[in-house]
Amino acid sequence: MIEFTLNGRPVTLDVDPAMPLLWAIREQAALTGTKFGCGIGACGACMVHLDGAPVRSCVLTTGSVAGRSVTTIEGLAPADGLHPVQAAWIEHQVPQCGYCQSGLIMAVAALLAENPAPTDEEMEAAVSNICRCGTYVRVRRAIRAIAPSPEPSNG
Ligand code: FES
Ligand code: FES
Repeated sequence: MIEFTLNGRPVTLDVDPAMPLLWAIREQAALTGTKFGCGIGACGACMVHLDGAPVRSCVLTTGSVAGRSVTTIEGLAPADGLHPVQAAWIEHQVPQCGYCQSGLIMAVAALLAENPAPTDEEMEAAVSNICRCGTYVRVRRAIRAIAPSPEPSNG
């Protein structure tokens, strides 16, 4: 049995501790917003937050999150509305097929929680998710709508 907090609620899953967290989330907890893309930690489709930090759940064992707090796309928004990143995604019509988008939104939400005004370089380093539809231009536009570039320094 693995006990952890999932989207603010305690859960106990009867799974092999070596099972990838992505499997446990989708198959055991029935939260299918988190997607399987590559399975090797390369694409970011499976991104969730672990104690607030972005992680790729396909390469994390369920046993390693025991006692910790996991947030998936289903738990990102406050009870009374959308997360600002979700609202910006709608406003700027970012998704195409949508498959990669929950992972992208989780990556961006974690970045902006840590760094509300990232530089382009910081943004690119933190959001390295792969989108087969090529929504990168709109991703950038939506991020910049809620997180303007930092002022250039004079020094
Ligand atoms: S499915 Fe996890 S990084 Fe691609
Ligand atoms: S919107 Fe289709 S893969 Fe990104």
